[in-house]
Amino acid sequence: MSDNRVVIFDTTLRDGEQSPGATMTHDEKLEIAEMLDDMGVDIIEAGFPIASEGDFAAVSEIAKRAKNSRICGLARANIADIDRCWEAVKHAEKNRIHTFIGTSPLHRAIPNLTMDEMADKIHETVSHARNLCENVQWSPMDATRTEWDYLCRVIEIAIKAGATTINIPDTVGYTAPMESADLIKKLIETVPGADDVIFATHCHNDLGMATANSLAAVAGGARQIECTINGLGERAGNTALEEVVMALKVRNDIMPWTTGIDTTKLMNISRRVATVSGFPVQFNKAIVGKNAFAHESGIHQDGMLKNKETFEIMRPEDVGLSGTSLPLGKHSGRAALRDKLEQLGFEVGDNQLKDIFVRFKELADRKKEVFDDDIVALVRAGGGEDAENDHLQLVSMKVVCGTGGPAESTVEMEVDGEDVTATCEGDGPVDATFKAIRKIHPNTARLQLYQVSAVTEGTDAQATVSVRLEEDGVIATGQSANTDTVVASAKAYIHALNRLLVRRDKVGEGVDAKEVSYKDLA
Ligand code: KIV
Ligand code: ZN
Repeated sequence: MSDNRVVIFDTTLRDGEQSPGATMTHDEKLEIAEMLDDMGVDIIEAGFPIASEGDFAAVSEIAKRAKNSRICGLARANIADIDRCWEAVKHAEKNRIHTFIGTSPLHRAIPNLTMDEMADKIHETVSHARNLCENVQWSPMDATRTEWDYLCRVIEIAIKAGATTINIPDTVGYTAPMESADLIKKLIETVPGADDVIFATHCHNDLGMATANSLAAVAGGARQIECTINGLGERAGNTALEEVVMALKVRNDIMPWTTGIDTTKLMNISRRVATVSGFPVQFNKAIVGKNAFAHESGIHQDGMLKNKETFEIMRPEDVGLSGTSLPLGKHSGRAALRDKLEQLGFEVGDNQLKDIFVRFKELADRKKEVFDDDIVALVRAGGGEDAENDHLQLVSMKVVCGTGGPAESTVEMEVDGEDVTATCEGDGPVDATFKAIRKIHPNTARLQLYQVSAVTEGTDAQATVSVRLEEDGVIATGQSANTDTVVASAKAYIHALNRLLVRRDKVGEGVDAKEVSYKDLA
């Protein structure tokens, strides 16, 4: 690889999925991995194999299916973790073991190791990983708060033990751009053997500087950026892949480094990750936010009409957004819908198209014009509609509300094929509806998130609703879109309950469906 090529290491399926509530199903992980592989991600960190049977199965399957990307798994600094990781990643044509240990004073105190004991452990575990796999990444967790001398010492040990990539994590999002560049530069200048390995940067966004810190690290000599789609990740998230990749592309004049990413695939994968993780993208998010290419004000619109470059530093097409937004209507046919889906970057199979078309027609009957964002919401909320084999299905609902008292909701559902109806009062129509659903299907699931957003403008706009539920540590999310906010809410709630039931069944079968954080395991 040339000196100015930056390796993109995506950790959406590991650090991203680790963020509370962002758990994905096995199939969803395979789907995201396929999209990452297809868009040119160099390395996919597919999971943490020892964390659960589910993680192990997902990493193994992703390793078997990968076409282009190198598949990496995470392992703590112990032999059992590393062996388990290797068992999963060994199926890939190109694989990597990523092993880590917290080296800062605060992190050293957790396993209660002296500096010397930790140094020995690093030597032992990295050597073991390297005996199994030719490609080994080592990370001193919380590197940016580790004493300089000790950091240099342990990196040297890891290099001598066979690490091929040294990752410098800013685990708590503490560093700042100048410091980030400086740290990498000084490490490369100081640590013996540094020239023989690749230095990576892994930034968290606690102070909103993850993208800047990652790019600064590249300026300092790092040649691998660790990132996630939509910046998904613990707390404020990780570096957003789409941001670093587009920054390098648009400002290549001052940041002369390239990646292998096909940027026209960014929008599509962003939407898919938002859907499966249940973490919607904020409207004004750089690159992939709904408003990132919208120009509302008169002055901006005027400028745009005269010359797009007045207010646009990149073309919407470059990130996979269609330039047009010609609405479809109730007379539009299946071919027009397929065409529109393709323009929006969705590749759908015949069955999925059939399903989306039915819902598109229903929507077009209620709404004069169906805009691009409506279509995106239909695709994203696909899982929110009743699937034939779901335990719980919404049959009908009726809500009465007004200013004079509590709202009342009557919900009719099919529970494992049996028709059940319940009526409840509540503090507003959504509360009454959720209570009625709980009466029909009693459960102790706690509502962790209830989020509504309007997809397009106007009073007939669709609302997309996301619901996240938690029961005994098992988390499930549900989504739905409808022009009626209360119906969308009921469907999203039922969707989440159905997913929770599936996950609970798996736990009953002995599968660890609850996500396990590497910190819980440390
Ligand atoms: O943030 C962090 O330190 C990590 C390590 C496991 C690399 O994610
Ligand atoms: Zn991290």
